[in-house]
Amino acid sequence: MNEIVYLNGDFMPLENARIPVLDRGFIFGDGVYEVIPAYSRHPFRLPEHLARLQRSLDAIRLEPPLADAEWTRLVHQLIERNAAEDQAVYLQVTRGVAKRDHAFPKGVPPTVFMMSNPLVTPSRELVERGGAAITATDFRWLRCDVKVISLLGNCLLRQRSVDAGAEEVVMFRDGYLTEGSSSNIFAVRGGVLLAPPKNHLVLPGITYDVVLELAAANKVPIELREVSEDEVRGADELWLSSSSKEVLAVTTLDGHPVGDGKPGPVFKQIHRAFQDFKRKVMRQAA
Ligand code: PDD
Repeated sequence: MNEIVYLNGDFMPLENARIPVLDRGFIFGDGVYEVIPAYSRHPFRLPEHLARLQRSLDAIRLEPPLADAEWTRLVHQLIERNAAEDQAVYLQVTRGVAKRDHAFPKGVPPTVFMMSNPLVTPSRELVERGGAAITATDFRWLRCDVKVISLLGNCLLRQRSVDAGAEEVVMFRDGYLTEGSSSNIFAVRGGVLLAPPKNHLVLPGITYDVVLELAAANKVPIELREVSEDEVRGADELWLSSSSKEVLAVTTLDGHPVGDGKPGPVFKQIHRAFQDFKRKVMRQAA
């Protein structure tokens, strides 16, 4: 089955989807996006993803092109038209096509694009071994809470980890943990789960919320507060979370083992809870 995408009102094969070069997404990176995982063709936490999309649109002062009920219908249709059972739905809205001018154009319809790729979650081997991460100074802008398509900072940082043979980069700003290039980061010290609070420096991850809910349900003590670089470097466990990585242990940081260099007991508990939770949600949706 060919990959089917949605562009401005129509479904079509990917190779037929075209946008004009003056699209402000292309010229300025002027747009927002979402990545929504779907398990067994059921989108996971769709209302939460749509609420975050709404916040992103508000933050960049773009009128929502569709109501939540329409987004929901389109996401389901896109999933049905694509082959994989587990998919990663990508949805993007840009400020449309206009003569190049930094100021917002008037009366221009936004460009709405959606595609879906097979969802590739970490292999069992990676989950059992954990991944490597490096550290870097977070040099991105001060609105990392908005899911904007202009991701050059994230791409540059992510590539550093690729060059170092690592899964992810753990970022610090002014000596405190922010997040990964495309994930949220958690630390465990003395059995307590430490997570940076949601503010303008981190993306409010949908998976981050799930992890905190599962930790609370499993009676893991949680501290939502600024986490210092020293606390991260001396952590017993480090994890990352995202819609595609789910929850994954980071077992080396800058080449040094995190704790004993293996996924820790709190990680194992929450990873298991996450898998159980997913199965429960899918059963309810079926
Ligand atoms: N990225 N922080 C950043 C900078 C991210 O890009 C992401 C997700 C997250 C985790 O958010 P969530 O749990 O809602 O996926 C945190 C997506 C997967 C991406 O850009 O592909």
